[in-house]
Amino acid sequence: MKKLHLLLMLTLMIICGVACKSSKNDNSEKSEGKTLVLYYSQTGATKAVAEELQKQLGCDIDSIVAVNPYDGDYGQTIARWMQEKNDSVKVEIKPINVNLDEYDTIFLGFPIWGGTYALPMASFLSDNKLDGKNVVTFATFGSGGIEKATIDVAVALPAADVKEGYGIRNSRIDNASEEIKRFLIENEYIEGEIEPLPAFSDPVDVTDQEAVIFHAACDNYQFPLGNPVSVATRNTPAGTEYEFGVKSTTPDGTESNSIIYIIAPQGQTPEFTKVVRE
Ligand SMILES: Cc1cc2nc3c(=O)[nH]c(=O)nc-3n(C[C@H](O)[C@H](O)[C@H](O)COP(=O)(O)O)c2cc1C
Repeated sequence: MKKLHLLLMLTLMIICGVACKSSKNDNSEKSEGKTLVLYYSQTGATKAVAEELQKQLGCDIDSIVAVNPYDGDYGQTIARWMQEKNDSVKVEIKPINVNLDEYDTIFLGFPIWGGTYALPMASFLSDNKLDGKNVVTFATFGSGGIEKATIDVAVALPAADVKEGYGIRNSRIDNASEEIKRFLIENEYIEGEIEPLPAFSDPVDVTDQEAVIFHAACDNYQFPLGNPVSVATRNTPAGTEYEFGVKSTTPDGTESNSIIYIIAPQGQTPEFTKVVRE
């Protein structure tokens, strides 16, 4: 009887051991999954962010290249993009150099064109559905657009797990390295320690002094960004950050709301970091 009891215990231990081991293997395979940074960049801003992400993640990198590159100036690119949008052209892209099957997580980067991802990225997304993969967007822009673009990526990739990632204005690219480090640590893509930032205060009415800061940061942008109606603030090591609630009216009289983030580093001109259009 004692022997039978011992045998039963032993069998149970072996079964449990196998089960535990196999579930551990599943987890470790997941955490060891490979990561790829894949991007399209026309003028180099998104490329710079992609290379910094690749450096900090220590992963593979590749780019999407248009067969007929957009090598004209800004005005020519805008004109070509508008024509292609109107004609629903699928921009031809070259085959990428990596095998996507090897990767579990893809950091997918693009410039914002017309409020969403650039057309060569649209071609990539229509041919590659990235089913079952983790997709983290990143983007560069003149004023903003990563939120809407990420929603559009999720619509284009219905069987992928799409998350909004890191976005930066092209005029602030020098700040990317530090900001990317914070983004990767806060979202647990890499290990590391970083001082948490305080939350913004509750929004209140804008004072005259805050209105001056808003206009100093926004009035030199190529498009009018509207007028601030509310403000929340927080103090960070980089300076005071403002979250302005903004109302604007388009030339055809349509009213729109946005949130504009501004950083005012000590003793320097304030600059806006992102416009989030509602
Ligand atoms: C055709 C075109 C459309 C653009 N549309 C927007 C836009 O809707 N919103 C915005 O913030 N920036 C817009 N931009 C600016 C680009 O997003 C910005 O310059 C970007 O950083 C370029 O990235 P790249 O250097 O990787 O090509 C547009 C630029 C082009 C050429």
